[in-house]
Amino acid sequence: MKSYPNIRHLGSDFKKLNNMNKISWQSPSNIALVKYWGKHGVQLPSNPSLSFTLNNCHTTTELQWEAGDGNIDLLFDGQRKERFTARARDYISSIASIFPFLKEYNLHIDSTNNFPHSAGIASSASAMSSLALCLCSMEYEVTGKTLTEEEFYQKASNIARLGSGSAARSVYGGYVSWGKSDKIPGSSDEYATPLPMEINESFKDIRDTILIVDQGIKVVSSRAGHKLMDRHPYAQQRFARANKNFNDLTKALQEGDDPNFIRIVEQEALGLHALMMSSTPGYILLKANTLNIIHRIRAFRDLSCTTLCFTLDAGPNVHLLYHGSDSAEVEEFITEELLLYCSDKYRIDDHIGNGPEKV
Ligand code: PMV
Repeated sequence: MKSYPNIRHLGSDFKKLNNMNKISWQSPSNIALVKYWGKHGVQLPSNPSLSFTLNNCHTTTELQWEAGDGNIDLLFDGQRKERFTARARDYISSIASIFPFLKEYNLHIDSTNNFPHSAGIASSASAMSSLALCLCSMEYEVTGKTLTEEEFYQKASNIARLGSGSAARSVYGGYVSWGKSDKIPGSSDEYATPLPMEINESFKDIRDTILIVDQGIKVVSSRAGHKLMDRHPYAQQRFARANKNFNDLTKALQEGDDPNFIRIVEQEALGLHALMMSSTPGYILLKANTLNIIHRIRAFRDLSCTTLCFTLDAGPNVHLLYHGSDSAEVEEFITEELLLYCSDKYRIDDHIGNGPEKV
């Protein structure tokens, strides 16, 4: 069942410094198992997606405000970065009709990632969800508008989505869906929903070790990749398959069905990259060592007693997914056979987490 962080702290736990107020949220990234790839309207997904929220990789955003006339400045990892500041300004002006009070304040945003944003982990998901949570808390502080716990998170998810689609899911912990689906009561294209069904015990302790194959900036952004789905020859088949994979994966998670989990998750990962390769123009984000690792994982799975499998984000780095009970055997495999394919033997160990926290 859904687990929200303690709502009692949502609106009342901010700090007042002379005329300046501030609030801070820490929000994790997430990894999609059924991918969101292709959108329409204002950041609405073409198919439902399903992810789990990570625990260790997170962004902490502190939002300070004072009476003013809508100026925004931003520090990212302690530094002024024009590109990020411009993006934050565009984003905040795009949500001005939802938060009309913002024009009466100057905002100072201080955002820190505890993982490198070139590590192939969706840093926009953690960054935009933590900012959205701060803005929703600020709304309460300056307008006194009260929301129920459910309404608060739904609003934060909706606001996060407008910044980065996958960020909609990072507002919740555990397994999270985003996008209208007959299987999820109350689901919407506008905000994410924690998976309401009981998850099998074996999937409650899922690990994600991220193998960093390449730390370079992506040659094609996700924004451009989504756009290429508008006239992709396989778009309709993709959306139909994603719906089926979504339904089948929710079932596998409830039943503890490893073979179907592996089949769907790996098909989604390879399918995502197949869509990129078959776009016009086509492009390739995978590297030779991504494929080397994938071949080794499949060979290891055939020989070992584990159910180790992989997923990929829109990049070359490989997310190893496994049950906590398999971690000793998987660890030996990683150190002995996989690290040699990583950039500087770089890996990040993470696991499913409980979602954002007010700090
Ligand atoms: O949220 P965006 O616009 O960066 O797109 C994310 C797309 C994938 O990470 C590839 C898939 C997903 O569902 O997170």
